[in-house]
Amino acid sequence: MMRRRRRRPRPAPTGTAPDSLRSLADRISLHIGTAVAPFDLDTPAHAAILAREFSSVTPTDAMKWGIVEPAQGTLDWSGADAVVSFAQRNDQLVRGHTLLWHHQLPAWLTTGAGDGTISNSQLWGLLEQHIFTEVGRYRGRIWHWDVANEFFTDSNPSVLNRDDFWVARLGAGVIPQAFRWAHQADPDALLFYNDYSIAGEDGSNAKSDAVYAWLQQMLAEEVPIDGVGNQGHLDTQYPFPPQFQQDLERFTDLGLLVAITEADVRTFVDHPGTQVPTNSLARFAHPYLYDQLMQACLAVPGCVSFTVWGFADGDSWVPAQFAGEGFAALYDVSLAPKPAYYALQQDLQLAVSGAPGRTTTRR
Ligand code: XIL
Repeated sequence: MMRRRRRRPRPAPTGTAPDSLRSLADRISLHIGTAVAPFDLDTPAHAAILAREFSSVTPTDAMKWGIVEPAQGTLDWSGADAVVSFAQRNDQLVRGHTLLWHHQLPAWLTTGAGDGTISNSQLWGLLEQHIFTEVGRYRGRIWHWDVANEFFTDSNPSVLNRDDFWVARLGAGVIPQAFRWAHQADPDALLFYNDYSIAGEDGSNAKSDAVYAWLQQMLAEEVPIDGVGNQGHLDTQYPFPPQFQQDLERFTDLGLLVAITEADVRTFVDHPGTQVPTNSLARFAHPYLYDQLMQACLAVPGCVSFTVWGFADGDSWVPAQFAGEGFAALYDVSLAPKPAYYALQQDLQLAVSGAPGRTTTRR
């Protein structure tokens, strides 16, 4: 197995509120992160919470191919640069997201690949160039890269999706190749495979099993994968998956790190503007599910970061994506902390004295 130099997590900056999520998490070497959109950095109230509470940031969309190269050869790094420099100013690590995914690709790329004006061999070249350009631009400034995102089917049994945009055209070998290129472009970045429902959220554990078997194969082939990201999008309609922690553990037993990369907990709400839960029990289920996610991470020493997919309901992707749902974040539409915020804070306070220390490097 490849040995590589690892960046040490940085201490929280002096002056950080002692009970902030980041200060508490820092005491157990856990990074607490959030997804962030560049325009949020210009909202002082939002930026203040971001700097105070979080020790890691993930650009929600700003590093996706469709955003950084809207027209072929025209690169726009404005949003990604803004997030990375905010992180540097505030002693935060950056999770890069994401290099190889079927969504949010540039229209010129999908159109060209669809009508045959971009051949498969040109597609290989474009992907190589994309990975070297983007990873190279931020070399030394990215802690984790979500190299590949969402390649497995939701069926039982689950399989690597042969109809995926990339796999259908370039074959399953496109995924390990993306990891190899990313590793060449930034040998210090830790490289992650990221997906949802890979810790029993599908009720069957089928997708977790498929990803686990694939990871074993990748590691046997010495593909430079350092970790697995479990997105962690939950819904109060469903119970917390009973094998969540064991599934994280078996990934770490392979020698990989794990991360919760996109946590949120959605529920049915009155209106996307106000996001008041329609079921009163959701007020209990919501902080409970956040707490369960965090406790699973805390119990697994190889779980090195816990990222929420936006910390404020006003910013969440949920109302636009899941009809009738919302209330998914830690802060409400007025940026007031919700019970879920205090649940995580309490978990971290307790963990300072109780949880095992993090393994910050791949074993
Ligand atoms: C979402 C963003 O939050 C939205 O702004 C965008 O319109 C669609 O993508 N899994 C992922 C994320 O890996 O990149 C997705 O983010 C949410 C699901």
